[in-house]
Amino acid sequence: MLDQIQQLQSALSNLAASTPEEAEQLRIAYLGKKGRITQLFESFRQLPPEEKRQLGAALNELKQEATVRIKEILASVATQSVQQTIDLTRPAVPYPQGSRHPLTLIQEEICNIFERMGFSIAEGPEVEDDWHVFEALNFPPDHPARDMQDTFFVDHKSNILLRTHTSSVQTRVMKSQEPPIRVLCPGRVYRNEAISARAHCFFHQIEGLYIDRNVSYADLREALLFFAQSLFGADTQIRLRPSYFPFTEPSAEMDISCGLCHGEGCGFCKHTGWVEILGCGMVDPNVLENCGIDSSVYSGYAFGLGVERIANLKYNVKDLRYFSENNLDFLSQFTAHTTPL
Ligand code: PHE
Repeated sequence: MLDQIQQLQSALSNLAASTPEEAEQLRIAYLGKKGRITQLFESFRQLPPEEKRQLGAALNELKQEATVRIKEILASVATQSVQQTIDLTRPAVPYPQGSRHPLTLIQEEICNIFERMGFSIAEGPEVEDDWHVFEALNFPPDHPARDMQDTFFVDHKSNILLRTHTSSVQTRVMKSQEPPIRVLCPGRVYRNEAISARAHCFFHQIEGLYIDRNVSYADLREALLFFAQSLFGADTQIRLRPSYFPFTEPSAEMDISCGLCHGEGCGFCKHTGWVEILGCGMVDPNVLENCGIDSSVYSGYAFGLGVERIANLKYNVKDLRYFSENNLDFLSQFTAHTTPL
């Protein structure tokens, strides 16, 4: 009997099966009711106690090894058969993709253009105080933008309000950093306006600020030309019209040549050939001084644009309300614009 046990034991490592059925046959042949090992146990029962003592351990060991080996074989053919039924070359089922919000897309595109010119991104709080939004930026106390009609006050007594422009972030950067400063401030701003197709009580701005020695109006013009041509196409022209902002001197408003009629004049540009896109100017020396920057050493330029307005120009969205209504029919149109991560 010891011989039989040893023979079976050494044969174990050569056992093999290529299908689950063959593996099951092996299990029956060795461990089934009439299997070889089961039969050995039956003969074992007839043996005199003396021999039982000698062979018991060897027989138990054989049973254990055979059980483990056959389990292994069963498991390996089972995974093989699963692999054979999965067609790994089949194209994947299309997965419904979300889309990025058009304002996010425009904001990213604009930030990328200015990042190429060395600007970095700065952010600040939406709930601000009067000093950062108005006072430091040279707004005279009776300036109409301070009027309650434009500004949402959170706490009128302590002059806490919702920022009406992201210039407040520029104030914070000027207060906390030494020139050279080159930052872009994207963010949401609030103004107390009745909601309509053309006005909303909140919208998004991107403002830029560059302060260094010898920054000139020519630098501002070059940067804005590069920006306009990168965003709207290489043949885009710009023009700067004199304007007024309390925090810049001189101030200007920038128009770009109308992309629809290429300057010929059409309904979109009200037959002028030009479309207004942003406000800009040289930072008023008072503003620099208010923020602790020596205006006899440093000068700078600033500009600010509305993201919704640019999105409207690029995607021809006529009604501002679409941007905040979370209407999937509107938003899903921008799936194709989403750049891969
Ligand atoms: N802060 C201005 C606005 O909200 C835009 C602007 C920024 C104009 C910087 C000039 C310079 O309209």
